[in-house]
This record gives sequence, structure tokens and C-alpha cells, in this order.
Amino acid sequence: MNHFLDIHKTDPADLRAMIDHAGRMKQARLGRPKASPDDDQPLAGRMVALIFEKPSTRTRVSFDVGVRQMGGETMVLSGSDMQLGHGETIADTARVLSRYVDMIMIRTFDETVLTEMAEYADVPVINGLTDRTHPCQIMADVMTYEEHRGPIAGRKVVWTGDGNNVCASFLHAAGQFGFDLTFTGPAQLDPEDEFVGFARQQGSTIVIERDAQRAVQEADLVVADTWVSMHDAQSARERRHNMLRPYQVNAALMAQAKPDALFMHCLPAHREEEVTSEVMDGPHSVIWDEAENRLHAQKAIMRWCLGV
Ligand code: CP
Ligand code: NVA
Repeated sequence: MNHFLDIHKTDPADLRAMIDHAGRMKQARLGRPKASPDDDQPLAGRMVALIFEKPSTRTRVSFDVGVRQMGGETMVLSGSDMQLGHGETIADTARVLSRYVDMIMIRTFDETVLTEMAEYADVPVINGLTDRTHPCQIMADVMTYEEHRGPIAGRKVVWTGDGNNVCASFLHAAGQFGFDLTFTGPAQLDPEDEFVGFARQQGSTIVIERDAQRAVQEADLVVADTWVSMHDAQSARERRHNMLRPYQVNAALMAQAKPDALFMHCLPAHREEEVTSEVMDGPHSVIWDEAENRLHAQKAIMRWCLGV
């Protein structure tokens, strides 16, 4: 049994195997109806709890569909409807859920909820996003890059805007998959030293560049995310927008990257804020493949967790 808590906590060979497995599973389903079951049914007879303490479209639907394609069943739970949201401890919740379900995916605020859940659960726990990281997203992103452009190792990824949870998992992935990352954003929103330090210690070149135009030179991949994350105070919205406006990904910025550079965004996007529609719907963008690959990547993650 394996937990999938973060990219830096997972063996690089296992991460690579999951990406490759996801690609094979995607190929095997080409042209089939979304709800049709996979030929093998590795999750037959298994129940997966999907717990959400924050909103979700992609994570919720892709996990649910992925489990069903593999022959398992899901239970989608909202944190506020559970006793967890009314004072029951995480440890007790984890022990109880482990008696009913075979795997737990949780999207939460504080990272300690995730780690405590994993500590006390007897079944695998998957990180479906916390305030600090979003590893399932970046597994799909690596898969998407490689599907379009081949190995990501040695490539230059440019993260624009807020050094947030998704950026943190990109830094973990830089270290584990061997690519370089340039962060361009205001100093107040730099990614934490811990994330930058991990990638550097693994041998990746991590650059902090305040000038967005300079940052994207020679970029193979440009990435944007929302300027205000679910865990950010809404009162900070205007201040963040003012700070982040120079980092909008628009056609002029993309023109500074390599001609065949890709554009990614984990979505949901705020069109004309962090990215223009011209870029989202333009030739560099692979955002719909990226969203689809959540499904395939997470199926590989779940199989790795359960060893099936
Ligand atoms: N990218 C992502 O995790 O989207 P949701 O918030 O819709 O799950
Ligand atoms: N950084 C965003 C990602 C959403 C998928 C957030 O945490 O709200």
C-alpha cells in the first residue's frame, strides 16, 4: 500500500512508471465511450472515498470517472457534511473510514489534515490539493508535455504569477523529472524556499526572474494559474491583481518563448486576468489535453497506491 501525498515524497522511478502507465491506459481507451469499462477491472469490488473541503470540477469528476472505468465505486463526501467538519478528529475519521473504504482522496486546506489522515488510515490516501501542493495536477501536466513534445527532462518551464500550491508541485516535479524552472512573479509571492531548495538539491536549475519578458526567453513550456487561490483571502484580491498584472500570459509574452513552446493552466482560468483568451484558445495551448490527462494520470496513481 502506498500513499500519494506529494511528488517529492514519491520515488522518481515510481513517478516515471505512473506517467508511462497512464499513457498506455489512455491509448487503450481511444475512441471508446467515456463510461465504458476498461478491459481489465483492477478496482473491481473496491470503494473509494472522495472528500472535498474545497470546490472542484476536474478533480471530482476525473477521480469519479477513473474509479468507475476501473470497475470500482466511489463515494463523494463534502467535508462540511462529515463529522470531520464538526470537531471529530482527523485521526478518528481516518480510522473509521479505513473500515469502510479501500482508498481515500482528500482535497483540504491545511496540509496537516492530509498527513494526519495518511498517518492514521490503513488504506492509501491521495492528495487532491492542499493549500501547499497539488501533485495529481502536475502528474497530468508532465504527461501532457511528454505526449506533445517528448521527454520533459532538460526542458525549461516558466511559471508565471503566484508561487502557489501548483507552483510548489511543479518545483517538486522539476527535481524528480529533471527539468529546469524559472519563476517570474512579484517578490511577495515567491515560492517557499523549501520547494525551490528541493528542486535545486536534486540538480535542477531554478531561476527567479522579476521581468516576465526575460523569463520566458527560450521557454519550452509557459504555465499560469489563478491569481487568487481558494485558500487566499478575498480581501487580498485587488492587491494581488495589481501586483500580478505585469505577469499576465498574453500573445506578446508567448511570442518571446520558443516558437514551439506549450502553454498550460491547471484551470479554472480567469480569462483576461492571468491569461488572455487568445493564448488559452491559441496554437500553443494544450489546456484541454491537460484537463483530460488528470483522468489517465490519476488512474495510474490509484493503481500504484493499491498495487493493482
Ligand atoms: N485543476 C483542478 O484541480 O481543478 P478543480 O479545482 O476543478 O478540481
Ligand atoms: N491554485 C489554485 C488551483 C486550483 C486547482 C487554488 O488552489 O485555488
